[in-house]
Amino acid sequence: MEPRYQAVARADELQPGQMKRIELDGRKLLLCNAEGSHYCVDEMCSHEDYSLYFGCIQGKKLKCSLHGSYFNLEDGRPLNEPADCPLRTYPVRVVGGQVEVAAPG
Ligand code: FES
Repeated sequence: MEPRYQAVARADELQPGQMKRIELDGRKLLLCNAEGSHYCVDEMCSHEDYSLYFGCIQGKKLKCSLHGSYFNLEDGRPLNEPADCPLRTYPVRVVGGQVEVAAPG
């Protein structure tokens, strides 16, 4: 089944290294621009209930500022402890000048 995409930002809204909190189907997500590509992951860290919005993007990685785990933005997997569970990732596409994310469903 084709995912249901929803527009969440203008394509030029986020500069590389910036992120934006969004909500889709009642779920809190983070839209990230990493090196010019957009990625979308759950907003909350998989280690503890802490917002990754307070972290930072380095290359294609998202760093949690509470305990320092890095996550690969492409597949959500943690790259170092203490986090050991991946973040859920969501398909992103750019259409007609808008960034669209596939709703969690
Ligand atoms: S809350 Fe993110 S690494 Fe601990």
